[in-house]
Amino acid sequence: MSSTLRTSTLPLPLLRSGKVREVYAVGESQLLIVASDRVSAFDVVMAEAVPDKGRGLTQLSAFWFGMLGSVTPSHFLSANTGEIVRALPQLAGHRAQIAGRAMLVRRTEPVLFECVVRGYLAGSAWGEYRRSGTLAGEPLPAGLAESARLDPPIFSPATKAESGHDENVTYERMEAELGAPLAERLRSVSLALYETGRRYAAERGLIIADTKFEFGIGPDGQPMLIDEALTPDSSRFWPIDRYQPGRSQPSFDKQPLRDWLAAERSAGRWNGDAPPPPLPDAVVAETGARYREAFRLLVGTDLPEEA
Ligand SMILES: Nc1ncnc2c1ncn2[C@@H]1O[C@H](COP(=O)(O)OP(=O)(O)O)[C@@H](O)[C@H]1O
Ligand SMILES: [Mg+2]
Repeated sequence: MSSTLRTSTLPLPLLRSGKVREVYAVGESQLLIVASDRVSAFDVVMAEAVPDKGRGLTQLSAFWFGMLGSVTPSHFLSANTGEIVRALPQLAGHRAQIAGRAMLVRRTEPVLFECVVRGYLAGSAWGEYRRSGTLAGEPLPAGLAESARLDPPIFSPATKAESGHDENVTYERMEAELGAPLAERLRSVSLALYETGRRYAAERGLIIADTKFEFGIGPDGQPMLIDEALTPDSSRFWPIDRYQPGRSQPSFDKQPLRDWLAAERSAGRWNGDAPPPPLPDAVVAETGARYREAFRLLVGTDLPEEA
């Protein structure tokens, strides 16, 4: 039986505890990233943990890093618990904390922009378009409906805020900070990754409406894909057979949680900041079910009990 984990505590140097993951140093050149079962929405971390979420994120990312390796190198080394314990024997007594949810990766210098690719008009992009007719500051054709398909997909970077809410920025801003060669490389790789992912997902009945990639600079000075890839935390997954522009779509991610929180907010019971309201059990369970279903649909098997 797997157990729910809100925060891991491993005998390795802890470098960072993010919204979802603990990041531990493994020597100079590697990291062990442990995806907890924490869930955040609107950039606020909930008090409850969602069963199977961390394992789902780690194993789905591992699956994608394998497939996307033909497009770009990534930080991925292993998400296999046995292999990780063999490489790090000091973790042998801590298997319950890492089983299925830990990933051994190459350590990089993260690029401080999130590389967002949008194939459909949703979320903050729909919000911007509705307000100003633009996306990432660039004008879009008039009259697009909510959830409309964007062809070709649009690269819309965001800053990686240390705390608080990420901010959508123009490509020019990213270019000014990173330099044109790196910015252009990250844009074209992100679009190519999205294209590969969306073609595969479409065969399995899912639309990847949008997604966020992160990159880091390796010891050779070259960018590689880091963090997680094409998971329900970093993407919007919509069932193709229920797609209908002109409204928001049902999705295999934390939508049940977002919907519940949004309702609490409009009822004046939550102001949008931490601490969030306590979640009903049904919202936690329904959110966990969406993560498991996303894994099953994309990978084609149930989430394994231990990887
Ligand atoms: N290979 C890597 N090298 C350096 N940093 C990484 C690597 N992979 C992921 N990270 C960083 O580890 C953190 C993962 O924790 P997470 O909970 O996702 O944080 P966040 O709250 O920033 O989303 C992120 O800050 C991410 O940029
Ligand atoms: Mg993250």
